[in-house]
Amino acid sequence: MVGVIVVGAQWGDEGKGKIVDLYAKEAEVIVRFCGGANAGHTVMHGGKKYKFNLLPSGVLHPQKINLLGNGTVIEPEKLLAELSELKAAGITPNLFISPKAHVVLPIHKDIDAAEEEHKQGNAAGTTRRGIGPTYADKAARFGLRFEEFCDEETLHEKLPKLLHLKERMLGIYGKSPSQPAEKTLSQYISYSKECRKYIADASFILNDAISKKKNVLFEGAQATMLDIDHGFYPYCTSSNTTAGGACTGTGVGPTAINEVVGVVKVYTSRVGEGPVPSEIFDSTAEKIRERGGEFGTVTKRPRRIGWLDLVTLRYSKIVNGLTGLAFTRLDTLAGFPKVKICTAYELEGKKITHMPLTSQDFALCTPIYKEFSGWEDLGAGWDKCAGNSLDTLPKNARTYLEFISKELATPIYFVGVGPSREHAIVLKDVFRK
Ligand code: GDP
Ligand code: IMO
Ligand code: MG
Repeated sequence: MVGVIVVGAQWGDEGKGKIVDLYAKEAEVIVRFCGGANAGHTVMHGGKKYKFNLLPSGVLHPQKINLLGNGTVIEPEKLLAELSELKAAGITPNLFISPKAHVVLPIHKDIDAAEEEHKQGNAAGTTRRGIGPTYADKAARFGLRFEEFCDEETLHEKLPKLLHLKERMLGIYGKSPSQPAEKTLSQYISYSKECRKYIADASFILNDAISKKKNVLFEGAQATMLDIDHGFYPYCTSSNTTAGGACTGTGVGPTAINEVVGVVKVYTSRVGEGPVPSEIFDSTAEKIRERGGEFGTVTKRPRRIGWLDLVTLRYSKIVNGLTGLAFTRLDTLAGFPKVKICTAYELEGKKITHMPLTSQDFALCTPIYKEFSGWEDLGAGWDKCAGNSLDTLPKNARTYLEFISKELATPIYFVGVGPSREHAIVLKDVFRK
């Protein structure tokens, strides 16, 4: 048995969905451990493009068990919409949801929007999917668990009270709910009937698979710099998106984990607010955004673009315990005469190579760059860079990747040179010990 965690090593949208879909072939169980419909994971499968906000990216393998762990938050409407889209494509996933996951209500989205407006300069630029308010209710212990949502009697008893309380909270911001409580109640009773067949003890399923020596795959959403504890607070999400969240968000012990694969986009992108030291605003950024289609999957916002930031990756290595690197988008960064890597920050006249102590200091950091010669855009020729060796890559691209790997003292497991699974160099079979 091998337990593999896939996490975003930067600010999200690194290409986790694609890696999870690839690794899912060898796994018995695939589980998402954090976040909700704020994620947008793209998978190219069988020549078709799928975008998942909530479902695990292993669902395109219907023979595998796919789980939403207790660390996730479930928006029933979104869940049912994604399932029916899959059904229309002829796919019925083998899906189960932890009774301990929490449920997102429409009023959580209203509160999300109201809080963002209230925070003004400190707003994270959330996806407005009600993520923060749902996790806040979970922590305050009056949230609606999936088990309560699935039980009609409990739902009838609990939901009106919860909605009443939330309406009063929304009133603090001078706002009213986007829909009346009665409508939410009747909608959720109907969703509950459709969703209850998915409830199952996700922790037990995982641990049972582990005890039978099956491979399990933990799918991270968001990324290291968006983690509620280890990310850049308050410009982060509301769950533990780093590797530790794979255990607490599913109910397995750390001894089940063998590999932690950090997905690294070979430049930086960020959707939302907050400091990004290596952000660039010139025509290079524009070109990367355009050619990479760097617009948010969930909100369609243009993603902010920057050079690769080695300081945050060093940090990511430590807080996740990364054992391997999965690089994506080498093809998108092609065709530039020079490319840069931020190898250190300058903070109040001093050079630092690791994260500063406080968020306040991080906001003051400016990048120190090392310049590299760029590599040619192979166009259709990227197809030929597939297999299990770096030899087929343009020389300068290989130098660039090997520099990062050496700096992080972490081996390269995967290199993506295009959106599909086939556009890839796979250097490590993660499920082979
Ligand atoms: P996730 O949230 O980490 O799963 O990533 P997203 O799906 O939000 O964004 C990643 C985007 O990059 C998707 O559109 C992928 O199809 C695409 N992608 C992933 N790897 C590569 C790659 O190596 N090259 C190119 N051109 N696109 C890639
Ligand atoms: P995937 O899994 C990129 C960002 C939002 C915002 C902050 C908080 O596709 O990589 P939230 O709605 O979670 O309260 O927003 O986090 N954010 C993401 N950015 N990729 C994501 O997911 C994200 N999920 C949330 O833009 O700044
Ligand atoms: Mg995404």
